[in-house]
Amino acid sequence: MAAKVSTPADASNDFSVGSVYCMVTGASQGIGRALAVEASKLFGPNSVMLLLARNEKELANTANMCESENVKVMYKPFDLSTASSEKMQDVIMQSIQGRKVTDFDVVLVFHNVGSLGNLSVETDKMENVQELESYFDLNVFNVIALNSQFLKVFQDVEDRIIIINITSLCAIKPMSGMAYYCSGKAAREMYFRVLAEEKKHIKVLNYSPGPVETSMIDYVLEEAVNDNLKQVFTAFKSQGTLLTPDVTAKKCLRILQKGVYTSGDHVDYFDDE
Ligand SMILES: NC(=O)c1ccc[n+]([C@@H]2O[C@H](COP(=O)([O-])OP(=O)(O)OC[C@H]3O[C@@H](n4cnc5c(N)ncnc54)[C@H](OP(=O)(O)O)[C@@H]3O)[C@@H](O)[C@H]2O)c1
Repeated sequence: MAAKVSTPADASNDFSVGSVYCMVTGASQGIGRALAVEASKLFGPNSVMLLLARNEKELANTANMCESENVKVMYKPFDLSTASSEKMQDVIMQSIQGRKVTDFDVVLVFHNVGSLGNLSVETDKMENVQELESYFDLNVFNVIALNSQFLKVFQDVEDRIIIINITSLCAIKPMSGMAYYCSGKAAREMYFRVLAEEKKHIKVLNYSPGPVETSMIDYVLEEAVNDNLKQVFTAFKSQGTLLTPDVTAKKCLRILQKGVYTSGDHVDYFDDE
C-alpha cells in the first residue's frame, strides 16, 4: 500500500480552499459536460482539469465553459474503447506537466463515459460475443484500466483522491431490454465497490444521476425493441419527468462537498440529502 499522506479530515470536501486536479471522461456532452462545468466553478487557484471524449470540437466547447482564472483546462480526443494503458497514462501525465502530484490538495476523477449497447437484440438472443466484448471494453474493462493508470500516477497522494463512478439504477435493478447496459453497469459498480473496500483512504462514490435528458434517451427511443423499455422512456419524455444534466450534476457535487456518503455506496439522485 502506498504511504499515507496526511491531510485535515474534511479538507478534501471543500474544493475551493486549494488546488484541484480533476479528470472527466465523456466530457463532450450530456452529464459529463455538466459535471465538468459545475465542478470547475468550485475549484480553488491553480486547479487543472483534463477532459476526455472522442469529439474534439465539443470537448473544446466544454473546455471553454470550464476555463477560468482558477482553472486551466486541457482536453484530448480519446477513444476509450481502444486506448492502450500506455496512452491512458500518457494523457494523464501530459495534463499534469510541470506540476508535482503533491501540488494538488484534492484529486478527482469522474468516470462518466458510457454507452447503452445494442438495444435491438432481445436478451435471450444475445450471441454476438464480439459485440459484447466491445461493449464491455468501453464501459467496464477500459474504465477499470484507466482508473488503474490514474491511481498509479497519483499513488503518492492516494488519500486526496475522490473517485466518482457515474452509475445507474440499472446497475442494481434489472430493466427489460437493457441487458448490455445493466450487466455492464453492475460489473463496473462492483469493481468500484471492491476498490473502496480495499482502499479505505480513497473516497469512492457510485452516483446514479436519475433519468436525464441527453442523447442517451433519444437513442433508447430510436433503437429499443423491448415494449416495456419503450413505454418507460416514452413516459419520461411525454410527462416531462426527465432531469436536466446541470440539475443532477449540481446534486452530485453537493453530495461530494457535504461528504455524506460511505465510500463505495451507490447514491441516487432521488435519495434524501
Ligand atoms: N441519461 C441518463 O438518463 C442516464 C441515467 C443514468 C446513468 N447515466 C450515465 O451517465 C453517463 C453519461 O451519459 P449521458 O446520458 O450524458 O450520455 P451521452 O450524452 O451519450 O454522453 C456520453 C459521453 O460518453 C462519451 N463517449 C462515448 N463513447 C466513447 C468512446 N468510445 N470513447 C470516449 N468517450 C466516449 C461521449 O463522447 P464522444 O461521443 O465525444 O466520444 C459523451 O461525452 C453514462 O455513464 C450513462 O450510463 C445516464
